[in-house]
Amino acid sequence: MLIDSFDRVVDYLRISVTERCNFRCTYCMPEKPFSWVPKEQLLRFEELFEFVKVAIDEGIKKIRITGGEPLLREDLDRFIKMIFDYAPQIDLAMTTNGYLLKEAAARLKAAGLRRINISVDTLKADVAQRIAQKDVLAHVLEGVEAALAAGLHVKINMVPMQGVNDAEVLDVLEYAKARGVTIRFIEYMENVHAHSDVKGLTSQMLLEIIAQKYRFEDEGFDGHSPSHYYRMEDGYRFGIIEPHKDDFCATCNRIRLTAEGQLIPCLYFDEAMSIRDAVRRGDIKEAAAVLREVVRIKPEKNRWSEADGERSTRAFYETGG
Ligand code: 5AD
Ligand code: SF4
Repeated sequence: MLIDSFDRVVDYLRISVTERCNFRCTYCMPEKPFSWVPKEQLLRFEELFEFVKVAIDEGIKKIRITGGEPLLREDLDRFIKMIFDYAPQIDLAMTTNGYLLKEAAARLKAAGLRRINISVDTLKADVAQRIAQKDVLAHVLEGVEAALAAGLHVKINMVPMQGVNDAEVLDVLEYAKARGVTIRFIEYMENVHAHSDVKGLTSQMLLEIIAQKYRFEDEGFDGHSPSHYYRMEDGYRFGIIEPHKDDFCATCNRIRLTAEGQLIPCLYFDEAMSIRDAVRRGDIKEAAAVLREVVRIKPEKNRWSEADGERSTRAFYETGG
């Protein structure tokens, strides 16, 4: 079992299989052009899988595939099947922008994927264009339907932003609700890579908008999820992820691996250790030692709650949020 210095059990690994993305969301990507990490620096699926086996043997029970946009990585279902065949009991999930999901959903499900989180920040084509810097809405919505049809367990993520999609909070909530799908609103996490004019909605603002139409009860946290849940009178639950409060850090059970093999103990901080050389040498012992060390140095909490305007230097397109 992996236990950190604050007695938290770490059993959840998020793997970013690529930092590349076919979107340029304003809350995630820089305005100015930038270059991607060269392909040779990325770990091949076989190399990532060497680490996955170590991680599972050390106590990881849940794995989420993220990006960038994970579906840009060719044959992703092959990687998912490798993990599934090694440990079918692992809770296998993925986070995607949904753009390529229509074609991929059935194959992912067949490979062993159980759950999928899809970003739906708006239901308006022009707003989607403004957020992703590309005309994406139709593909994303088709992707959601394909995931549901394939029998994947779907959740919707929305990042509400002032003056951008804040008028659609109820619409997106009702879109999810109509499909029996949980929605989680994510407070915008300030980071140095995002466009400088992005302003998120606070959880308080969100709750006020939803309360104009619905009554709901506070259910608190559910397990290790960072999401705070609320239950409506008809039983439907929605979540809010509030990084500006750090109370969920107390039950944080996760670490992150980037496509280059950097193992990251906390989304907020720059600390990381590489497992790339170890897996390329086939040195399983060393990979396990790095894993244990990263768990040991996992910080107690993030710092978005500190003075206004505190920004993370982490690029979420590297870590998958
Ligand atoms: N703040 C909040 N959420 C973000 N995401 C990406 N960048 C940010 C940010 N700066 C979200 C995406 C997606 C998930 C992977 O993380 O919308 O739902
Ligand atoms: Fe791509 Fe996700 Fe970042 Fe949007 S938030 S640019 S979809 S990685």
